[in-house]
Amino acid sequence: MTAPNENEHASVASVTGSATGDEGPLADRPVSTAQIVVSWGEGSAPSVPSVDNESVAGDDDSAIGGMSVVTSTQSLRSSIYEDVEENGRTYHRFKQGKYPLPNDEKEQERLDLQHALFGVTLEGKLHLAPIKHSLQNVLDIATGTGIWAIEFAQQFPSARVLGTDLSAIQPLYVPPNCRFEIDDAEDEWIFSDKFDYIHGRALLTCFKDPRSVLREAFKALEPGGYLELQDGTFPFQYIDGVPRDSHLYKWNEIVVTGAAKSGRPWTNAQHYKEWMEEIGFVDVVEKNFYWPTNAWPKGEYFKKVAAYWQADFLNGIEGISLKVMTAMGWELEEIQVFIAEVRKDVKDVNIKAYLPINVVYGRRPGLNEVG
Ligand SMILES: C[S@@+](CC[C@H](N)C(=O)[O-])C[C@H]1O[C@@H](n2cnc3c(N)ncnc32)[C@H](O)[C@@H]1O
Repeated sequence: MTAPNENEHASVASVTGSATGDEGPLADRPVSTAQIVVSWGEGSAPSVPSVDNESVAGDDDSAIGGMSVVTSTQSLRSSIYEDVEENGRTYHRFKQGKYPLPNDEKEQERLDLQHALFGVTLEGKLHLAPIKHSLQNVLDIATGTGIWAIEFAQQFPSARVLGTDLSAIQPLYVPPNCRFEIDDAEDEWIFSDKFDYIHGRALLTCFKDPRSVLREAFKALEPGGYLELQDGTFPFQYIDGVPRDSHLYKWNEIVVTGAAKSGRPWTNAQHYKEWMEEIGFVDVVEKNFYWPTNAWPKGEYFKKVAAYWQADFLNGIEGISLKVMTAMGWELEEIQVFIAEVRKDVKDVNIKAYLPINVVYGRRPGLNEVG
């Protein structure tokens, strides 16, 4: 297995200590999803996590397999759009109420940590689609802090990279070939140029009708251009039995139900491949990954991924829960008490949970190609 390049992400997060897990045999343990692990490189595909019975950390220990994650990012705030404050967090004002997660400093730090988590997951790759290094126009929808767009612009100097979002939370100083616009990806797309590559990551909580967003992406691509989505699907999955009495399981049920009721379900990513094929994309590829909640899996790769995901989730659970649970009638204090218990479950190595992640990419057919 190729070692992930930690230095690439040193500005956003660092992992200290060393993993003690071995590179044990690939698991043949059945999982509760019907997904198949697809090979995604030169034999370096991570397998479905298998349980590490020997080197797990105590369940009151936030360090994983000797690792801990330290965040150290800061983004410059733009004042183009003011924010809306609610329950001590801030939210986007442009198209107010659409997106349920906060946009404040705490959330921005989490997003940058999550960028590092995607980096560890994909072993340093920003994309899996087979794009050309000479590509020209690139769009990153729902770009968040813009960290992916900025790194992509640095790696692809010939590209003009545009990042769009509802929130103006991108830095002011960016590479000359990178820029940001406030834009709603659910509106009709009216960009003046077509794109060679469109990227969208961690969009699972965003859209009412993701298919219409994918259709707009198809129309906005040059013939031969690629769309790539990197996303997760709620609820968490488990191996060795589903812990129905746990707060983690109940929390997943609550937020998935609440999100579906709000009209923006958090279960879309599992359908991306099918939807892209329906729309007319060709050569659509799906690759599956797994984010374990703690040190329960075997192997250095999964322990490292779990270290990042646990930190991401513990930092994010309040922001993820607030809107959806208050809309279901929960009081702030009740939510705080409940998620404190969920946090304990996330660190409990007897609960072998993971979030399924998939990367899906496909190509708009070329002009002389039947799609
Ligand atoms: C979980 S964050 C992911 C950010 C970024 N893609 C990343 O991976 O770091 C989701 C982002 O989508 C943005 N968003 C949500 N709905 C949107 C919409 N309809 N149009 C544009 N951006 C949207 C949010 O403001 C937020 O910044």
